[in-house]
Amino acid sequence: MVKENSVRKVALVTGGARRIGEAVCRALARSGYSIALHYGTSGAAAEQTAGRISKDGGVCATFACDLVDGHATGDLVPAVLEEFGRLDVLVNNASIFEKSSLESGSLESWDRHFAVNFKAPYILMRSFARCAKEGNIINILDTHIVRNKTANAAYLLSKKTLAELTKMAAVEFAPRVRVNAVAPGLILPPVSQKSGYLERLAKQIPLQRRGNVENIAHAVLFLLENDYVTGQVIFEDGGEHLHG
Ligand SMILES: NC(=O)c1ccc[n+]([C@@H]2O[C@H](COP(=O)([O-])OP(=O)(O)OC[C@H]3O[C@@H](n4cnc5c(N)ncnc54)[C@H](OP(=O)(O)O)[C@@H]3O)[C@@H](O)[C@H]2O)c1
Repeated sequence: MVKENSVRKVALVTGGARRIGEAVCRALARSGYSIALHYGTSGAAAEQTAGRISKDGGVCATFACDLVDGHATGDLVPAVLEEFGRLDVLVNNASIFEKSSLESGSLESWDRHFAVNFKAPYILMRSFARCAKEGNIINILDTHIVRNKTANAAYLLSKKTLAELTKMAAVEFAPRVRVNAVAPGLILPPVSQKSGYLERLAKQIPLQRRGNVENIAHAVLFLLENDYVTGQVIFEDGGEHLHG
């Protein structure tokens, strides 16, 4: 239990145990935020990340929640408020990514994608807007939202929908809450892919190299610091979206 605070700002990051989410948590902690680190199944990694943040002088508490479960997701913001007494930033980073074309995908896979990648962020955004006097929401999208490739149709459409929600929420939640997004490109390969996969793809994009998790964390901090920006998407993708 952390039970301190109301002095430091608090950031809730979903899927914060590993990979991009971990980098965002650690960067926010270095910037002085207390971290509410949400995780699904990666309990051990979540505790490890929380431990690293504490070792660096930061504050971090972990929160387990299956984002497929809308009721449990609705309890997440209240649990963070109970722990820290305030909430200033929400980063919707957690996501699933399964292969499914328009013709071949199972309806169960569509339900899972929309539950985790769209409905859960919406539930959290709504809770955040209801409880926060002011603050920031940042949704993590994907550079492919500007394209219409259907190899990952359910994933892509869930992210396109979240991009639209980002703009609508930026209007409705203003002026108290700014709502922005980061659209990563070639950052980390899916867990199932071998190394070299992203390097091969990177040859085809304008900057001809992959990015890294720190690029995404940097974009999140940029959006938090620039208080005249709302409804914006930063494409952190080496120019890949330009090939749209
Ligand atoms: N990797 C890239 O290069 C890339 C490119 C474009 C866009 N993005 C976007 O950037 C974000 C982070 O990417 P990533 O590759 O780091 O993500 P990831 O490893 O695929 O997933 C992030 C986390 O989402 C959580 N999650 C998934 N289903 C969940 C559920 N039902 N309940 C609770 N948590 C759940 C998992 O938490 P647990 O492990 O705790 O279960 C997982 O660690 C995602 O939104 C992704 O779409 C990434």
